[in-house]
Amino acid sequence: MAEAAARRLKVGVLISGRGSNLKALLDACAAPGFPAEIVTVIANRPGAGGLEHARAAGVAAEVIDHKAFDGKPAFETAVTAALERAGVELLCLAGFMRVVSAAFVQHWHGRMINVHPSLLPLFPGLDTHERALAAGVKLHGCSVHFVTEEVDGGPIIGQAAVPVLPGDDPARLAARVLGVEHRLYPACLRLVAEGRVRLAGGKAEISGDFDGSGQLLNPAL
Ligand code: GRF
Repeated sequence: MAEAAARRLKVGVLISGRGSNLKALLDACAAPGFPAEIVTVIANRPGAGGLEHARAAGVAAEVIDHKAFDGKPAFETAVTAALERAGVELLCLAGFMRVVSAAFVQHWHGRMINVHPSLLPLFPGLDTHERALAAGVKLHGCSVHFVTEEVDGGPIIGQAAVPVLPGDDPARLAARVLGVEHRLYPACLRLVAEGRVRLAGGKAEISGDFDGSGQLLNPAL
């Protein structure tokens, strides 16, 4: 008799726009043996391109337009209700451009993660690539972190770095960072789904073996 399929963590994804990180998560979840499945995708904007990625993957997708609600609490109540109807256990924000309320953070405490396009705690908030270029940093990148009340301030699960190169403009740098976002977010989702990430003392601790040999020098020495 065939073995029962391993249990997969049920994931909901919130998006606002193009959804390339959503696509990376969908692709990862489609691989045999991946320990998570995306059960629903919610966009707060009717035109969000990422909805098409969900539909193409056969995943339920719906629009909950924040503009149709009288205030953030009502909008977030509707979002949580939809996520819970779908049985979501972990919520992934993927280019979701609404700051969530303290009540929403509390409700999803330890069960909500986000990808941010900088090496936090540098450059929380918007326009991260412009700010990295203005600061003259030589390494930039992205972070996957738990969502807390402090915007982009929660415990960091993983980070990926890219070099800042001569002649970079925000668009070129953003494209380089996006490439590593698409690798880092699924890798961090896997860690969480495998139960290898534990919140302790305001940090995310990861259990198990690591290859800690990676180094990125810019300029290379
Ligand atoms: C990404 O750069 C992500 O880090 C940020 O918003 C962007 C969303 O891009 N939070 P996409 O919608 O996933 O393509």
